[in-house]
Amino acid sequence: MSLKDKIDKAHLPKHVAIIMDGNGRWAKMRGKSRIAGHKNGVTSVRESAEAAAELGVNYLTLYAFSTENWSRPKYEIDALMHLLLKTISTETRTLNKNNIRLAAIGNLDLLPRNIHNSLVRAIEDTSGNTRMTLVLALSYSSRWEITQAVKKIAEESRQGTLDPGLISPSWFSSYLTTSGIPDPELLIRTSGEQRISNFMLWQIAYTELYFTGVLWPDFRKEDLYEAILDYQQRERRFGKISEQLNANNS
Ligand code: IPE
Ligand code: IPE
Ligand code: MG
Repeated sequence: MSLKDKIDKAHLPKHVAIIMDGNGRWAKMRGKSRIAGHKNGVTSVRESAEAAAELGVNYLTLYAFSTENWSRPKYEIDALMHLLLKTISTETRTLNKNNIRLAAIGNLDLLPRNIHNSLVRAIEDTSGNTRMTLVLALSYSSRWEITQAVKKIAEESRQGTLDPGLISPSWFSSYLTTSGIPDPELLIRTSGEQRISNFMLWQIAYTELYFTGVLWPDFRKEDLYEAILDYQQRERRFGKISEQLNANNS
């Protein structure tokens, strides 16, 4: 039985998020430049998007560039932006062929104008697709996202349009860039690092975390299947005890 066949299709995570990490180390191990690692990571993006869509996952979020990544050397940022531009323009057709909708979260205004424009165009060109939503987290960080939500709320408060009685966790979620997207059930981080690096701090309150030593450019469909199988073996109790969950199931 293949790993894919072992997956229980009735209990798939609806939203899988991935912190794609390890491109630089992958390249260093091969005596190549960090940029070569980023280039090879594009194949892993394609593979994971294809695998998630084939399985029936509804949302796949890929953390591609963080707010903190703006502090990297300029040549690396330029190369990453160039790669992003190239990938968006070459992959839009594949997204349409596979009925995948593109979305983006993050401070997109900080992106270079040409990239911002091609991203917006790709999002529009794929907006009618229904099989899966591929969310790119670009110039994203959770503290930025939460801060901009608080700013919007403060503005509404100043204008007198805010009713404190309405404030609830789901109300707050609607101010985040992930508004309308369900919280991820599964978060994968590659490369062996076991940290969150400012990613979806609010949204992962009850997410299952999966860390793998596989470096992002080596990540293939089978690695995604392994993560989902691991997720399916976990008991998600949400504060309750096992017996309560079993009672609900019977
Ligand atoms: C992830 O790989 C890609 C981005 C953060 C853009 P890294 O570039 O962080 O690779 P390592 O962690 O240095 O190996
Ligand atoms: C996290 O990776 C950000 C992305 C994957 C886009 P980093 O490589 O930037 O994270 P740290 O700095 O090692 O925590
Ligand atoms: Mg890294």
